[in-house]
Amino acid sequence: MGSAENAALTLSARQASDFELLANGGFAPLRGFQGSEDWRSVCENMRLTSGEIWPIPITLATDFECSVGDVIDLKAPNGKQLGRLKVEEIFEKDVDFEAEKVYRTTDNEHPGVAAMRAEGSRCLAGPIEVDALPDHDEAFMRRYKTPAETRAEFEKRGWKRIVAFQTRNPIHRAHEYLTKAALEICDGLFIHPLIGETKKGDIPAEVRMRCYEVLMEKYYHPDHVMLGVNPGKMHYAGPREAVLHAIIRRNYGCTHFIVGRDHAGVGDYYGTYDAQRIFDDIDLNELGITPLFFEHTFWCNECQGMGSNKTCPHPQESRLFLSGTKVREMLSAGETPPPEFTREEVAQILIDAYKEGLD
Ligand code: ADX
Ligand code: MG
Repeated sequence: MGSAENAALTLSARQASDFELLANGGFAPLRGFQGSEDWRSVCENMRLTSGEIWPIPITLATDFECSVGDVIDLKAPNGKQLGRLKVEEIFEKDVDFEAEKVYRTTDNEHPGVAAMRAEGSRCLAGPIEVDALPDHDEAFMRRYKTPAETRAEFEKRGWKRIVAFQTRNPIHRAHEYLTKAALEICDGLFIHPLIGETKKGDIPAEVRMRCYEVLMEKYYHPDHVMLGVNPGKMHYAGPREAVLHAIIRRNYGCTHFIVGRDHAGVGDYYGTYDAQRIFDDIDLNELGITPLFFEHTFWCNECQGMGSNKTCPHPQESRLFLSGTKVREMLSAGETPPPEFTREEVAQILIDAYKEGLD
């Protein structure tokens, strides 16, 4: 419970998302919001001062008035008491430095850089104590598991090789292909969509959940596939974020992690396979999870199936490529994209969502 004498800071949705992963173990070994030394070390070396690999700073930027030594209550955006922060340090971070090191750009058009700038540079740091996790709607809660719970569930199912799939999109045929190809060499597939804040133009998580559920019902094998939710937010930090996404799934108990084309990318800030190359310099035993790399995949009319440059020998003309913009245009006009691009059931959910006013 909140205490009468503590001042209370109401977190933004993005901050509550960080709190939740700190609180539920998704951000292990972190136990709180990072201080200036960890912040610098993470930006410069992609490591905590304790030596562990950590790719993106987890800081709490706020103008909230308090002093070092204070204990402040932390509340969710809806007012729910979440816990407390013991303020060990108050510091100014160099936002441009973080942008350059972590996002490889200081461009304000980059949604992750813009979000960081909007939060500001003054940070409170220290360990958190947890009373409760933020609330989520029923559609998410029925799939919600903490890292301890997914580990227990994997064990119960006897899964040893477990591949995780991160996504912030509806699962289309290319995504389905990656996940099933990966599952062929694993015991279990953990579909782990991100449900925290995404950028404008991305499909909202509640609409995406309907798409995932229908695929779980009709196209994925219940004995070998589990659907969860990742309360994280998107940074769109490409390579650095691929490493963060992998660490989170390691903490949820997965052994393998899918990294396809332009993972966690946006616009043309990152090369198509930069998010794969970053793992070349990482000791995978130390990281504790193994990335599985996939080339750009597509439907090919000659193959009559999905493939990539590695598996499909046919020319571009035989291959189906639809831009995100084109797909959005079709869906908002009530047109079903071809079944080679997306399952009809998924298309229908998206068309209905557009009718209800998705933009
Ligand atoms: S994000 O986290 O990378 O932004 P997104 O939903 O866009 O999520 O992609 C999920 C995963 O699928 C990522 O690993 C991405 O690289 C991969 N991916 C998406 N589309 C394709 C594709 N056509 N071919 C290969 N990999 C893809
Ligand atoms: Mg993508």
